[in-house]
Amino acid sequence: GTPQPQLLAGAAPQPKPYAVPLPLPEVAKPVSSAGGADFYELTERVAEVEVLPGLRTPIWGYGGTFPGPTIEARSGRRTVVKLVNQLGEPTVLHLHGGHTPPESDGFPTDLVAPGAAREYVFPLEQRAATLWYHDHRMDYTGPQVWRGLAGMFLVRDAEEEALPLPAGERDVPLLICDRSFAADGTLLYPGLPDRPGVQEGYMGGVLGDVILVNGAPWPELRVARARYRLRLCNASNARVYELSTGGPMVRISGDGGLLSAPRTVRQIRLAPGERADVVVDFAGYELGRYVELRNLAGEGAQARVMRFAVDRDEPDDSAVPGRLSTVEALDPGKATVTREFEFSSGSMHGGTGWLINGRPFDARRMEARPKLGDVEVWRLTSDVAHPVHLHLDHFQVLSVNGERPSGPPEWKDTIEVRDAQTVEIVTRFTDYRGRYVLHCHNLEHEDMAMMAAFEVI
Ligand code: C2O
Ligand code: CU
Repeated sequence: GTPQPQLLAGAAPQPKPYAVPLPLPEVAKPVSSAGGADFYELTERVAEVEVLPGLRTPIWGYGGTFPGPTIEARSGRRTVVKLVNQLGEPTVLHLHGGHTPPESDGFPTDLVAPGAAREYVFPLEQRAATLWYHDHRMDYTGPQVWRGLAGMFLVRDAEEEALPLPAGERDVPLLICDRSFAADGTLLYPGLPDRPGVQEGYMGGVLGDVILVNGAPWPELRVARARYRLRLCNASNARVYELSTGGPMVRISGDGGLLSAPRTVRQIRLAPGERADVVVDFAGYELGRYVELRNLAGEGAQARVMRFAVDRDEPDDSAVPGRLSTVEALDPGKATVTREFEFSSGSMHGGTGWLINGRPFDARRMEARPKLGDVEVWRLTSDVAHPVHLHLDHFQVLSVNGERPSGPPEWKDTIEVRDAQTVEIVTRFTDYRGRYVLHCHNLEHEDMAMMAAFEVI
């Protein structure tokens, strides 16, 4: 059968759940600001950090931390990130969810060599949203992200700030990923020396046995009896989460920013690459209560994510308004073309890999040439579940197996196409001309060639 993600058993003792306080990644400070632009520097380097209590874990980190610093940027304000590669391997930076010119999008052949540096320019002509940045070196994305090359990137704007949503320390980024560790705390990854993203048995994707939030195993956050905005980001290589607090969560935002109206949900499914912002009102719980964020899709220790300890009363003047934003519904009737993309396993280069339309990735072959400004419908079909990510422009889901999704349209950049499903999306290529990619965000699938290039002309 078609390979499924495999649990990689670690050898390190698993820490006691909820014993570690939730770390908050440092917010990056611009090295300078001039001419309406903010300049940041991210240096990729090897570092040792304590992930499991008492053990040292060598990582590859932006700024030597895992996750990297959080970049807080403003919509419409040019953000320039200088990537300095002090690692022994080439890297590529990608802003996931960014509407980015092609030369700054991290096309997988635009490598930054060891010892080299490169500036990425993000004009951020887009709405407020929870984005993230990570390594995007094709063939090696899986191991390089696994080693720590990921961080959050928040875009803010005046529209969102005018809403009374929880803010400040009650606006909490939660970068969620799983890892496995050797007995000495070293990260395990089932790579082969010649092709680290590929190993027999792990072609379906690598699942870690320790769940990390902001780089800490099963952490705890102390909260007031107040509303909190939780920015959930699934930065795992292959793990899909069904997140639940056991109580109501109010989803306000997705991959592409605010929804038109809040939606109260009991659980949230997040495939690799997807984000959801929820507001949880801890005033609904008594003092002294613990609220667990659980993963209903996981078993045993992997069913836990983190917990909140409701430990104080504090004033709270935040609210979730009944109307959040205006989300234009893209009209599929305006589409100039419907394109088919079939995601499946198959043979490549003499072995087995993951293919789009029967072909492994080829950076020189453009699988589509949409015209700037055109609306297009893309029909995605799958054999097993694939979280499909489109670079450049956000899209809206038209149908899943022929059925319209419930609720008003929202903007997404990653959609899980589950086993044997057909998902139709509609997008409009309004931003930039140039080369981009569409790929599976199961990073092992990506590394095993499940990517297609397209060019906006
Ligand atoms: Cu988050 Cu092309 O990736
Ligand atoms: Cu896939």
